[in-house]
Amino acid sequence: MPTEIKSEIHLGDCLEILATYPDNFFDLIVTSPPYADNRANSYGGINPDNYVAWFLPRAQQMSRVLKSTGTFILNIKEKVVNGERHTYVIELIEELRKQGWLWTEEFLWHKKNCYPGKWPNRFRDAWERCLQFNKTKNFNMYQEAVMVPMGDWAKTRLKNLSDTDKTRDNSKVGSGFGKNVSNWLDRKMAYPTNVLHLATETGNRQHSAVFPKALPIWFIKLFTQKDDWVLDPFCGVGTTCEVAQSLYRHSVGIEIKPEYYELSKANLNVPVNYPLFEDHNQYGKNHTE
Ligand SMILES: C[S@@+](CC[C@H](N)C(=O)[O-])C[C@H]1O[C@@H](n2cnc3c(N)ncnc32)[C@H](O)[C@@H]1O
Repeated sequence: MPTEIKSEIHLGDCLEILATYPDNFFDLIVTSPPYADNRANSYGGINPDNYVAWFLPRAQQMSRVLKSTGTFILNIKEKVVNGERHTYVIELIEELRKQGWLWTEEFLWHKKNCYPGKWPNRFRDAWERCLQFNKTKNFNMYQEAVMVPMGDWAKTRLKNLSDTDKTRDNSKVGSGFGKNVSNWLDRKMAYPTNVLHLATETGNRQHSAVFPKALPIWFIKLFTQKDDWVLDPFCGVGTTCEVAQSLYRHSVGIEIKPEYYELSKANLNVPVNYPLFEDHNQYGKNHTE
């Protein structure tokens, strides 16, 4: 008998709603909070100078409800203020570490299809951070779930191996890491990089800053198993919960704006009509190491 998948959407401030959940409940938090002041007209911005102070009590609740084996993925990007990048993301990372989080990894979401644009002193943003935080170093990670086809890259890069490539080549910087490239000869699948090449989804998604579905899918597959619990405390139209449901994970979404809350609830029952297992990372095309 398959387990019934539970999906809960709450209307309100995640600070208050999370207080109603028990300690150590969730396996994964994937979220994109409102960016500093960016979209003040559509869902209320936080002044960049106040961003860290606003976020920290919410992060404290997230830490409490996350299991010790769980992972927190924070999609965020610093905006430009007075001609320079504001430092609130860097300050937030430092303050989250003081709060007890480990900053374990940083994934880079490359927005493959961003529009062309022209600014006097910079180019268009085509990437965002997906910061990974954990409570301990012993977090669950299911790397095989996100393996990608080796691709044409292997045919050229692995064709003429040097002698060092055929033995274990220990890191020159003494990190303890090493590689034996010849181990990958004849393999069909490889582990992806920490760069996610995903198109933004702008058409008909009812919110100005939705996740492409492939983004939460990738993290849910990497950090959870069926029947695990996924949280998105700033859920917008509920993309994270929608894909969690389709991957047989239980989920909780929290949204402060009634119109997005209603859309989240409606989206939870839509049929699955997108590919769940496409080659998100395109390892073979873009890997250059
Ligand atoms: C960047 S959007 C998230 C979009 C979402 N990833 C999706 O795919 O639809 C951030 C959302 O957080 C909501 N929000 C802002 N402050 C909140 C709070 N304190 N608690 C819960 N939701 C909040 C906003 O209304 C907005 O819809």
